[in-house]
Amino acid sequence: MIKTTIAKISEFKNQEVTIQGWLYNKRSSGKIQFLQIRDGSGFIQGVVVKKEVKENVFNICKELTQESSIIVTGQVRKDERAPSGYELTVNNVELISLAKEYPISLKEHGPEFLMDNRHLWLRSKKQHAILKIRAAISKYAREFLDDRGFTLIESPIITSSAPEETSSLFEFDYFDTKAYLSQTGQLYAEAAAMAFGSVYTFGPTFRAEKSKTRRHLNEFWMLEPEMCFVDHEGNLDLQEDLIEYIIQNVIKNCALELKILERDIKELEKVKAPFPRLTYDDAIELLKKSGEEIEWGEDFGAPHEIYISEQFNGLPVFVTNYPKECKAFYMQPDPEKPGTVKCADLLYPGFGEIIGGSERINDLDILVQRIKEEKLPMDIYDWYVDLRKYGTVPHSGFGLGLERMTICITGIDHIRESIPFARTLNRITP
Ligand code: 4AD
Repeated sequence: MIKTTIAKISEFKNQEVTIQGWLYNKRSSGKIQFLQIRDGSGFIQGVVVKKEVKENVFNICKELTQESSIIVTGQVRKDERAPSGYELTVNNVELISLAKEYPISLKEHGPEFLMDNRHLWLRSKKQHAILKIRAAISKYAREFLDDRGFTLIESPIITSSAPEETSSLFEFDYFDTKAYLSQTGQLYAEAAAMAFGSVYTFGPTFRAEKSKTRRHLNEFWMLEPEMCFVDHEGNLDLQEDLIEYIIQNVIKNCALELKILERDIKELEKVKAPFPRLTYDDAIELLKKSGEEIEWGEDFGAPHEIYISEQFNGLPVFVTNYPKECKAFYMQPDPEKPGTVKCADLLYPGFGEIIGGSERINDLDILVQRIKEEKLPMDIYDWYVDLRKYGTVPHSGFGLGLERMTICITGIDHIRESIPFARTLNRITP
């Protein structure tokens, strides 16, 4: 007897195999039972014909409830109509545990109910597909960077600094001092880049934003590459290659998941480098022409970003050179465009920002001046300033939000489904 998983079933055409999993759904026509079985690796239909199995096997199948755990043995048959291309002609079903009445029946439920039951909702076909794609995005992002000689560096989650915005900090007592949950791994990535050349951090980051939007979480995962001897332009080149690599690999290797999500692959196929690059000034003009009342110096809101993102034939677009007031203290001023910094947000078509990045200030005096201007506590940033004292070099980096990338690839509406257990304004359970 061959034990296998549904994902590998195509290797066992016309052979007898055993799979271990759960009953996803069931339908019956009296003499035949159709079992939808899932095992974590995929979904398959098992066909149980009354006159071809022992009576007790058929009776077990009749009693099976949604999410009962089972071990199923059967013959693998090719079936063009099946999503996986295969079906199982069942010989035997062993019941492990008969599930009590499962709260998430296979009908429509409201989002709050589903989020309350997130620990169970993860089992559903759509959620399974989304999180498989999320895992693939992580894999291809890391593969891309690892292949280019980047070193993975783990940055701390407990920090004393607030590099992004002091209003979005989760603060707590760390023995006798104040500490924060990390908003970004960037400052540590910069230190590590001076040691390793090209590095990336990849971990959870935290923002105490009291916003309830479809693109904000209070805990999200960020991939943050940081590169020495790379300027603003080089930074954008790497970003577009990374996004293309992730998307084209997901198309190639997650076809079944994209099909379950009914994702329009043609839209994704278009996402190939190079991406258009637009200055903030040009973006303001574009918005004004569309009738928006926006003035130079204002930051973009989600509707602005969405409008800009939709003007470039389905390609993501970089918006560069934001006014320095809109951005974090560490960004390099652009001498050619006074008042702006060498930064870019990458806007994904129909969605908005998925990446924020910049060339970093590498000059000691300018950095110290910016820290003072922003009234940040100098002693906390001593070590960061040190990096400009000992062999400072031009360097750049960026942060890609894993959940936002997952939304854009899967085409889902809301960020809460892009992470296994979302942390939002009103939710820390389950
Ligand atoms: O633009 P942000 O704030 O940039 C940084 O934190 C830099 N330190 C990154 C760097 O240069 N190393 O955030 C970067 C990305 C955003 O483009 C977005 O994709 C994601 O992180 N992000 C969020 N995702 C979900 N919920 C939130 N509240 C997010 N805030 C940022």
